[in-house]
Amino acid sequence: MTELSNFKKTAKFILMKILGIETSCDETAVAVVKIENDKPEVLSSIVSSQVELHAQYGGVVPNLAAREHVKNISVVFDAALKKANSQIEDIDLIAVTQGPGLIPALMVGTAFSKTLAFLTDKPIVGVNHMAGHVYANWFGEKEIEFPVLNLIVSGGHTMLVLMKDHGKFELLGETVDDAAGEAFDKVARILELGYPGGPIISAEAEKDSKIEIDLPRPMLNSGDYNFSFSGLKTAVLYKVKDLKEKYSLDEIRPAVAKEFQQAAIDVLIKKTMKAAEEYNIKSVLLSGGVAANKLLRKTLEEECEKNGFECYLPELKYTTDNAAMIALAGYFKSKEIEKPDWKSVQADANLRLASR
Ligand code: KG4
Ligand code: ZN
Repeated sequence: MTELSNFKKTAKFILMKILGIETSCDETAVAVVKIENDKPEVLSSIVSSQVELHAQYGGVVPNLAAREHVKNISVVFDAALKKANSQIEDIDLIAVTQGPGLIPALMVGTAFSKTLAFLTDKPIVGVNHMAGHVYANWFGEKEIEFPVLNLIVSGGHTMLVLMKDHGKFELLGETVDDAAGEAFDKVARILELGYPGGPIISAEAEKDSKIEIDLPRPMLNSGDYNFSFSGLKTAVLYKVKDLKEKYSLDEIRPAVAKEFQQAAIDVLIKKTMKAAEEYNIKSVLLSGGVAANKLLRKTLEEECEKNGFECYLPELKYTTDNAAMIALAGYFKSKEIEKPDWKSVQADANLRLASR
């Protein structure tokens, strides 16, 4: 294994190409990102999604996902290099998601990447998937000033994470049960709307409805930065059961989708703004799959503007799982590592981004 190029530590000007690899869930993704003086340029970002395959089961089936990753990874890898007009020889660093995620799926990406690193004698760094989501915000033009507050909302996680500098993550709060995206998926299932639920629920919420309903805002005033979405989902279940006595499911869907989405967003935004005040935050960053939600994006922007925080939203193509974000997170992580040790890259289903 070669050491990470020494020029990185000494020179102010850095130019390197990073290969990112992501297989933590149901997307096989490979990207090539060029970094020039800390500024990234995405040369390629190929994502092969298995969403349709898993939709028939109402969620991701881990072993099926792994089998698809094995089938797709070399094809996606070839496509990413080709699109970036690059050869493997041009790559300075390999960055791979090591967790959190589904263990059989993670093992495909880590085994592939470690083998690649070994055979090509390239340095390799293991990346936390959630750090990847956070770094999706660094592809924008605007300079991001620390301290940063991250609202991370994905299918598996909901967290408020303070960042005083690159790679320094402090957990302020997280969900005590379901993640926000998971709640969207479960509510979609109750409404018989299919999988993944997020995009369908938000589309349904935009439709007109004659029915007015109220749902709770769990832990809105809990005095901490934790969240809970499981009770909200149960409240939806009972509400739909009641409404079904009077209305058809077609009539119920828009009303429930709208109020559920609003309830989830109210709690996410209120806690984010409170934490931003308490920790004297300069920049508020949204990330994770749920960051694709239009109303959440709009509300966060408006509230940040009102309260004097800079707001950053990732481009839609970088909200869901991709490997460009992994490459960039890997770049910043590699700066802190004396000597990337490829043996330390291990798939870990429960890898934590931060502790309190
Ligand atoms: O980050 P991600 O791609 O995968 C994980 O790492 O979990 O997030 C997927 C989640 C799913 O739960 C999906 O329903 C949700 O993101 N999602 C949305 C929207 N688009 C995707 N949730 C709400 N509104 C959306 N527009
Ligand atoms: Zn993700």
